[in-house]
Amino acid sequence: MTQSLTIRRPDDFHLHLRDGAMLAGVLPETARHFARAIVMPNLVPPVVTGDQAEAYRDRILAALPPGMAFEPLMTLYLTEATDPDDVAAAAAAGLVRAVKLYPAGATTNSHAGVRDLTRVQAVLERMAEIGLPLCVHGEVTTPEVDIFDREAVFLDTVLDPMRRRVPGLRVVMEHLTTAEGVAYVRDGGPDLAATITTHHLILNRNHILVGGIRPHYYCLPVAKREHHRLALRAAATGDEPRFFLGTDSAPHPDHLKETACGCAGCFTATNTMAILAHVFEEESALDRLEGFTSLNGAAFYRLPPNPGTIRLVKAGPVRWPARIETGAGPVTVFDPGCAVHWHVEA
Ligand code: NCD
Ligand code: ZN
Repeated sequence: MTQSLTIRRPDDFHLHLRDGAMLAGVLPETARHFARAIVMPNLVPPVVTGDQAEAYRDRILAALPPGMAFEPLMTLYLTEATDPDDVAAAAAAGLVRAVKLYPAGATTNSHAGVRDLTRVQAVLERMAEIGLPLCVHGEVTTPEVDIFDREAVFLDTVLDPMRRRVPGLRVVMEHLTTAEGVAYVRDGGPDLAATITTHHLILNRNHILVGGIRPHYYCLPVAKREHHRLALRAAATGDEPRFFLGTDSAPHPDHLKETACGCAGCFTATNTMAILAHVFEEESALDRLEGFTSLNGAAFYRLPPNPGTIRLVKAGPVRWPARIETGAGPVTVFDPGCAVHWHVEA
């Protein structure tokens, strides 16, 4: 039985770091294990221009504790006013690694997102030309569509038509939550990939709602039925280069989660690697963990794999703090709801 595992240092291809006191509180949780992360731009106000991305990158680097190494891979928040030249210049400078599409109203801080995709056609065409990936929050926001169906409907009515309108556009379907999404990405050709979160490998919708409502399990896209979770597990552990880790670790202070209208987001930065080792061991796929966390995403983003390694060790049940303290308030750490025996060796 494997008791330890050394893998290339992982990357997180979908991460919320926030800003200010929250940034300072959560950044070490990611930088402890991850070498790089695609940093989401949904600040208030959002990170829209190359200049804003540069300033945000500098704030992230300034918040990094001495002695820690971490490379933020910056993204721009796509709006209907985004300038294709600004995007291309920020990409050419190596500053920006992707552009993020939030359909307006889909999730936390997405009101400045895109309402009409035809208005960003010129930006998407330029991105296809230069090979810059579009990270997609893949949910429709029309009120008639049930929240559990929003991803599946998005694939047919938004994503597929968009990809046909912009041949060659490289797309990452973020935080995949459905079997339909897995199937679409699997058949999508070399320009399409998907991130999968840690918590969507653990949760189905019962975990959120049975026996009382669990605000710390509420995220968007919301966790779906069990068969979807199993499809995600098969995709993540199946040695398929098109699927890779994007934790979508999304910190909110507890008072904004545990309230009458709680924010969406699970905070998994602290224990993601331990939980993933647990999941991959359950699926008899520990030998595929490195591909999922450290190789597949880098390859899609055309980055070299990280030179360093981390060592995961299996020992007695591991305990994490229930919450981390940040200057913006306490943030509850994701509870996988089962004993986990793996930890990342310091
Ligand atoms: C994210 C956040 O809080 O910024 N929330 C979430 O539930 N995942 C936004 C997002 O990625 O949808
Ligand atoms: Zn996110």
